Amino acid sequence: MTAPVIDAAAIHPISLRLHTLENNLVLAPMAGVSNLPFRLIAREAGAAMGVSETISAKGLVMGGHKTRRLLDTSPREKPVAFQLFGSEPATLAEACRRLADEGVEWIDLNVGCPVKKFIRNCAGSSLLRDLPRAVRIVSAMRQSFPGTFSVKMRTGWDDASIVAPEFARMCVDEGAELLSVHGRTRAQQYTGRANRDVIREVVEAVPGTPVLANGDITRAADVFEMLRDTGAAGVMIGRGSVGNPWIFQQALELAQGGALRRPTPSERYTTIEQHIDLMRRAFSDPTAFASNLKKYVAAYSKGMHGGNRFRQAALQSSDLDEILGLTRDFFTRTDRAA
Ligand SMILES: Cc1cc2nc3c(=O)[nH]c(=O)nc-3n(C[C@H](O)[C@H](O)[C@H](O)COP(=O)(O)O)c2cc1C
Repeated sequence: MTAPVIDAAAIHPISLRLHTLENNLVLAPMAGVSNLPFRLIAREAGAAMGVSETISAKGLVMGGHKTRRLLDTSPREKPVAFQLFGSEPATLAEACRRLADEGVEWIDLNVGCPVKKFIRNCAGSSLLRDLPRAVRIVSAMRQSFPGTFSVKMRTGWDDASIVAPEFARMCVDEGAELLSVHGRTRAQQYTGRANRDVIREVVEAVPGTPVLANGDITRAADVFEMLRDTGAAGVMIGRGSVGNPWIFQQALELAQGGALRRPTPSERYTTIEQHIDLMRRAFSDPTAFASNLKKYVAAYSKGMHGGNRFRQAALQSSDLDEILGLTRDFFTRTDRAA
């Protein structure tokens, strides 16, 4: 394996027409995960911005209450991108108009989601099989939205149809200002490795437009390898930040010549407490709070001594107070260091 290249110049701001990202580390959109509490935790840990969970354009236009909850935000997380999915250009354009009227400053389009429900509805990565439709959507959204507009894509439908470089060019021709590329095909789902060569091809296809490279960044050092291998302007980090939001701070510190520093048990617990507090405010329904909480405390305990037993107990419970108690007991024990 090539030695990681920690290069101070690798971390830098990204300037767009209307926004400047203070660095080039971005939290990926993750349904059920990249909600307001976690986006704020990631920002606190050093991410320059977060992208929301994916939001149905149709649901927004129809005024669904659950859909609207996904727009929850706070001035503290500016800038934030709200990601839309859909298949009908007119519906996506209407959703963009409404969000612009509500003051949303950044919209991202989902051209990557591989799940069957999306595919059946010609949304998400299904659009990679129908570029004319994808381009009509990009164009309609761009024309209806004066704010920052970006597109997140996979590399293609399958290995025989790698279209990301071509599609990226089309998006930029239509006015997309930033692109994110998850280096996998739809057929790969989440298996195999993210293909950095294709990400590089995208970067080279759209000179002048920032590309965020995404996929398999699990350690801070991976940020630098990804940037070196792809030439991308920045990175987007998903699963590697769940339970480890410190990955953003660690990358920033490595770039400044620091050593990799893991959070002390007390720093870890401080973050978890902050996260719990944000969840408490975000979830008025105790059942939803409990299920969100379990997801994160399980992730925070990964790699910690006794973590298996803690996860078993916490994941089995549906009682909010019990999960909170188990969490406090587990993370305040000083012999749990990861
Ligand atoms: C639980 C989960 C939910 C996701 N939801 C979305 C989503 O709503 N929109 C999207 O564009 N990508 C979504 N993704 C894909 C991620 O944004 C990212 O592209 C992918 O996980 C690869 O990056 P990673 O290896 O850093 O996690 C999701 C991924 C996961 C694991």
